[in-house]
Amino acid sequence: MDSSDQIAVGAVDELAPGQRKLAFVDGRSIVLFNIDGTIHAIDNACPHNGASLASGQLEGCVLRCPAHGLRFDLRTGRMPGAGGLSLTTFPVRVIDGKLVASLEDPATSPAQGPACNAEA
Ligand code: FES
Repeated sequence: MDSSDQIAVGAVDELAPGQRKLAFVDGRSIVLFNIDGTIHAIDNACPHNGASLASGQLEGCVLRCPAHGLRFDLRTGRMPGAGGLSLTTFPVRVIDGKLVASLEDPATSPAQGPACNAEA
């Protein structure tokens, strides 16, 4: 893969398990979550009506949009148990202590991390 589409979005020690972080890169707002050691990155715009998702409530790997309450699984971007809208998610890797996202390659099905404790 060409490394030019890989963008550092923070340092791994800024994002301990249970924390989240907002990053602004390349004109985009991205929210990163560390859920039990697995990093998830999403576009900070709800696919329903564009609300910021940065303050959404987490239940395991499922994020609830603060605007109207739709729920999205951060592992897949999809709404649990239903089709419908999908979040844009980005693959993130840790390289030399940095969190590196592939913004040009949004993933609709990121690699499965450890299971979350949220069942929808
Ligand atoms: S803007 Fe997110 S649920 Fe409506």
